[in-house]
Amino acid sequence: MKTKLSVNINKVALIRNSRGEQLPDLRKFAIDCEKYGAEGITVHPRPDERHVRYSDLPILKEVVTTEFNIEGYPSEHFMKKVLEVKPHQCTLVPDPPGVLTSNEGWKPQNHSEFLKVIIGELKEKEIRVSLFLDPIEEDIHAAKKVGADRIELYTGRYAHEFEKNKEAAILDHTKASNIANEQSLGLNAGHDLNLKNLKFYKENIPNLKEVSIGHALISDALYFGIQNVIGMYRRLLF
Ligand code: PXP
Repeated sequence: MKTKLSVNINKVALIRNSRGEQLPDLRKFAIDCEKYGAEGITVHPRPDERHVRYSDLPILKEVVTTEFNIEGYPSEHFMKKVLEVKPHQCTLVPDPPGVLTSNEGWKPQNHSEFLKVIIGELKEKEIRVSLFLDPIEEDIHAAKKVGADRIELYTGRYAHEFEKNKEAAILDHTKASNIANEQSLGLNAGHDLNLKNLKFYKENIPNLKEVSIGHALISDALYFGIQNVIGMYRRLLF
């Protein structure tokens, strides 16, 4: 299966916000990422809008021609904006408001009524819904029960363990990917994926539909340039 590369451009917005004007231009950056081969653009508006802002969403929706993926905690405000903008995909994360980055998945079984309502509202607008999860069997079953179309496996722990023992690090993810397959859930992955650990992940997770990568990819672009870097990541996904 071909795995799509969705570039998370939050860190580009972070640099822009540090000076209060439009440099770098987030809209142009998204257009250029697609021109250089990105198959999706991901943004994650956080409650304090320190990265991408809610006001960026309609501007990006207008220019993204591949797949627009908005991630975030489904607060009332987040839901209002996402339902207005109608991205192709919405990835729901369980983050508390002040968290630095998303570092654990949902336990959908503990929020099933809430998630069923939220997912229903998104699907009514034909927005595909992915739930951010740890690679845990009962959580995947619960994601199916609340109506998710896909799950996004949190790969932060994989990335850390990869440095010590990659075969051990991937085990939970191969099991989780088999369960997702049995449950007819599409499989995405993200967090701390980089040029070192992505190839091994892809080789071991045959049903991987999409990865969203931000921090490492944008950091690599400081050395190699965004055009080269998108090519470098995409070559690891075949
Ligand atoms: N997936 C989710 C749900 C995230 O919150 C993030 C970080 O914004 C990513 C993927 C991308 O992680 P990274 O920036 O480490 O590539």
